[in-house]
Amino acid sequence: MLLVSCYLYLVFMTDRTYTPFDQLLGGLDQALRTVFGPPPEAQRPNPAAALPEADLDAAQRELAACLMRINHAGEICAQALYQGQAVTAQLPNVRDKMEQAAAEENDHLAWTAERLREFGSHTSYLNPLWYAGSFAIGAAAGLMGDKWSLGFVVETERQVVKHLDGHLEQLASADEKSRAILDQMREDEGKHATVAIESGAAALPEPVRQTMRLMSKVMTTTAYWI
Ligand SMILES: [Fe+2]
Ligand SMILES: [Fe+2]
Repeated sequence: MLLVSCYLYLVFMTDRTYTPFDQLLGGLDQALRTVFGPPPEAQRPNPAAALPEADLDAAQRELAACLMRINHAGEICAQALYQGQAVTAQLPNVRDKMEQAAAEENDHLAWTAERLREFGSHTSYLNPLWYAGSFAIGAAAGLMGDKWSLGFVVETERQVVKHLDGHLEQLASADEKSRAILDQMREDEGKHATVAIESGAAALPEPVRQTMRLMSKVMTTTAYWI
C-alpha cells in the first residue's frame, strides 16, 4: 500500500500523463483502501448522529447488526461497481455522474461501518470477494456503452431500494439510529436510479435482471452470517 501511494505521489509530482499502468495502480490503491483501509470519511453528517441509542434486546441487536453487515457489503459492491464503471465509461458527463454517485455511496459506506462498530459487530469477511466481482461487473458494463452502463445502475439501485425496504420492515421500530441511516440511503439510491434514467439508461433484458437478482441474493444471504 505504501509503495503504491509513493508511486502515485511521484506521478502527481511529475505531472505526467496517466498510462494504463498508472490507472491500474491507482485502481488497485483505491480497491485496497476501500476493502482493507479504515472506513472513509463521510462528506455529509451521519443521519443517526443526533438520535438516541434504543434499548434493544439481544435478538434485536443481533438482527440489526446482521442487516447492517449486508448493507455495508452492498456499499462495498457499490464502490466497486462505480469505480469499475468510472474506468471504462466513455462519455465525460456519464463519468462525472458515476463519480458523484460513488461519493454518495462513500457516505453510506462510512455510516454503515460506524453503525456496525456501535453494535460491536464485524464487516463481511468476504468483502474482498464482493469488491473484485463487482468491479469486474462494473467495468464490463462500462465497456458495453454508456446507455447499458446506466441501465445497470438503474437496475442495481432499484434492487437496493427493495432490499432497504425489507430491512426497514425487519428492524425494531425503536432502533431510530439504524432506521435513519437506511432511510437516507434509500432516498439517495432512488435518486441515483432517477439520474441514470434521465441520463439515457437503457432497460436491461429480463435475463440480465434475473441474473443480477440471483447474484444479489448470494451476496446478501452470505453477508448476513459472515
Ligand atoms: Fe449506497
Ligand atoms: Fe446508489
